[in-house]
Amino acid sequence: MRLLIIGGGGREHALALALAADDPSHHIYVAPGNPGTAAVATNLPIPPDDLDRIADAVDAHAIDLTLVGPELPLALGLADRLRAEGRTVFGPGANGARIEASKAFAKEVMHAAGVPTARSRTFTDAGAALAYIDSHAEPLVVKASGLAAGKGAIVCLTRDEARHAARAMLSERIFGDAGSVVVVEEFLEGEELSVLAVTNGREVRLLPAAQDHKRLLDGDHGPNTGGMGAYAPVSIATPAVLRRVTDSVLLPTLRELERRGAPYRGVLYAGLMLHPDGTPNVVEFNCRLGDPETQVVVPLIASGLTALLDAAARGEPLPTIGIRAGAAVTTILAAAGYPDHPVKGDVISIPTDLGPGVTVYHAGTQLRDDGALVVNGGRVLAVTALAATFDEARQRSRAAAERITFEGKQFRRDIGWREQVRGER
Ligand code: AMP
Ligand code: GLY
Repeated sequence: MRLLIIGGGGREHALALALAADDPSHHIYVAPGNPGTAAVATNLPIPPDDLDRIADAVDAHAIDLTLVGPELPLALGLADRLRAEGRTVFGPGANGARIEASKAFAKEVMHAAGVPTARSRTFTDAGAALAYIDSHAEPLVVKASGLAAGKGAIVCLTRDEARHAARAMLSERIFGDAGSVVVVEEFLEGEELSVLAVTNGREVRLLPAAQDHKRLLDGDHGPNTGGMGAYAPVSIATPAVLRRVTDSVLLPTLRELERRGAPYRGVLYAGLMLHPDGTPNVVEFNCRLGDPETQVVVPLIASGLTALLDAAARGEPLPTIGIRAGAAVTTILAAAGYPDHPVKGDVISIPTDLGPGVTVYHAGTQLRDDGALVVNGGRVLAVTALAATFDEARQRSRAAAERITFEGKQFRRDIGWREQVRGER
């Protein structure tokens, strides 16, 4: 098949490699891609939000299936546009992408569908938000409703912090228009879980459950980031828990979206807080594959990846996929200054002998004119290790992460610490 992947991060590099492994006869294009994807596919220098040029590329390269990585092109209507031209696209239309692009909309859908989630209220007026905060118990979470690159949610231990956050979003517009609508919600106890469900709008096929690490520093300290590492599978995501996620979260949400005229094809990503009693509460939905979850989930798929994504994109019955035994752990190497002010330009050195089962996915990298690989973004590389056991995968990912060098490299040495603690009990 002729495939076009939209995006240029580690998620897209992992997807390109997995699709190429699934069927070596694929012709794969990536727009814009990165130096990693250039080794497995043809990069097209098109920004992911340039819908006109993407539509032209789909024609020019006779693409059979377009797979959209990031949320922005979906929210802008890329999938609608290509479908209107008779093309096959993996990813929801703009209506469906609102499940991620508007937290207020996601809350409305969950409420209507009876999906378990934190109690919340939506505000456009700072005074009303402050009054609500004053009458609710700490801690509270204050969220910009729109797309804010993963930084829009502020967990506030005190009402004072919550007031400050609401004012900063609604009055000072620290997130611009993304914060013109604000959701204030109760704090959920428990452990986070990412469940990525491939769907044709009616049925779901769950990929191995993963756990992301959103905080910058070891021990879950420091600021929120796009994700500093992940592992899969997660032992607390038992078959019973996943059945509950399917029946109480995924299927009711898809039915409600369909009812609202937003049929959904692609990935519905449920970011969950698993309560100690086993209840999966939704923290957020995403309309796409997760990053860095994809870098651990996709390498665990042994067979059937292309057929599954293609069937979902066409709205056809979903085939089963083969899942490998064992585990995958990925460690993100981030630039100095990430997440606020990543420093670009430092030369990266990647040893060739990083050990068995280790793959380095490129994200924020660039090839300089002299051929040197340099830092070009906040999250630079994702170092994934695949092994027979979780512990081996964790140790190999970390050891490989230690050996890759660039100035000011930041990474967490404790990816998977919760799973490790469980294993030691
Ligand atoms: P979001 O942008 O909604 O995914 O939130 C970012 C991160 O903030 C989540 O991954 C959680 O770690 C945390 N968070 C968001 N909402 C809540 C909540 N209601 N209770 C506890 N933690 C939350
Ligand atoms: N890993 C979180 C996300 O992709 O949004």
